[in-house]
Amino acid sequence: VKIAIAELEQEGKKAAGVFITSPTYNGVCSNISEISQICHSHGIPLIVDEAHGSHFQFHPNMPKTALSQGADLVIQSTHKVLCSFSQSSMLHLSGDRIDRDRVHKCLQSLQTTSPNLLLLASLDATRDELSKNPNTLFNEVMELVQQVKELINHIPGVLLLDLSCFSNNFSFMDPLRMTIGVQELGLSGLEAYNILSTSHGIEPELIGTQSFTLAFSLGTNKEHTQRLVSGLKYLSINFLQEEREIIKIDHGTDRVPFGEVYMSCTPREAFFAKKKKVNFEKCIGEVCGEFICPFPPGIPMLIPGEIITKRAMDYLIQVKDKGAFLKGAADPLLSTVVVCDF
Ligand SMILES: Cc1ncc(COP(=O)(O)O)c(C=O)c1O
Repeated sequence: VKIAIAELEQEGKKAAGVFITSPTYNGVCSNISEISQICHSHGIPLIVDEAHGSHFQFHPNMPKTALSQGADLVIQSTHKVLCSFSQSSMLHLSGDRIDRDRVHKCLQSLQTTSPNLLLLASLDATRDELSKNPNTLFNEVMELVQQVKELINHIPGVLLLDLSCFSNNFSFMDPLRMTIGVQELGLSGLEAYNILSTSHGIEPELIGTQSFTLAFSLGTNKEHTQRLVSGLKYLSINFLQEEREIIKIDHGTDRVPFGEVYMSCTPREAFFAKKKKVNFEKCIGEVCGEFICPFPPGIPMLIPGEIITKRAMDYLIQVKDKGAFLKGAADPLLSTVVVCDF
């Protein structure tokens, strides 16, 4: 954050604010208190996408909330780990660095004039539930997760993501998120999911190329965690002995397939431009006319306006062959690609 602000200043510009996502989908939290101090020392607000952290307030062993660490505006998907209906979320404002009237006006320009009262009532019911026993509500699931992690740590070939996996200085992880690496079993995240889903009824929150992520919540019980341990033991017994090649998706040297992005025009210009379909072999160098979003992980690899590179196409083919579905692509098999016809 310091470097980004300084770079803008060198260009004679001033950052209007800082926007970060914490925790990540996998539950990794940034050091928000340090980041908010940096922002405030420059007189700018910190906005945090805390979609996956609406439960942090409710147990002493959870990471601290973004608000308590000095964030000015925080967006939480209350429906994700707490119990409100899907689509219901909360926007929290603190202090006076952000103009409340302006936020209100922006919301008015985006929101429907007919709010769904079921959603609002479910937010209120969640608030009511939490206010009754805010310090103990998560005790049971926190204990269950602690026990299950100890058991999983002893299953050969099954890897648990924790803070020691990072070279960066991350300090906290959500105890209710568990990312399980299966590369030592010679499986992709999707293959492990297909097996676990059929054999043990396990449904991850997120499926990656080499791992999958589970979300625990107030609904988790002992039968669920026992089923998880039994499923992972099943994978370990059946796949570890076979000396299969460890699957590694080759992201190149920096392991970031999204690092190389060349835009030819804005997504809006590309969206409204005339389009044509070209054969897969001829699409490199063309301007992409569609979103191509492999699921998992569900992040667009190419967006309208982006120049199609060989590296992007190689990655898409690789994940497609591993079983990923290419959402957004007119031809999910990728024999043709929609490009802009300028
Ligand atoms: C980091 C992050 N922010 C925001 C969202 C969107 O939240 P919502 O589904 O409440 O609109 C998601 C959805 O998964 C997310 O992962």
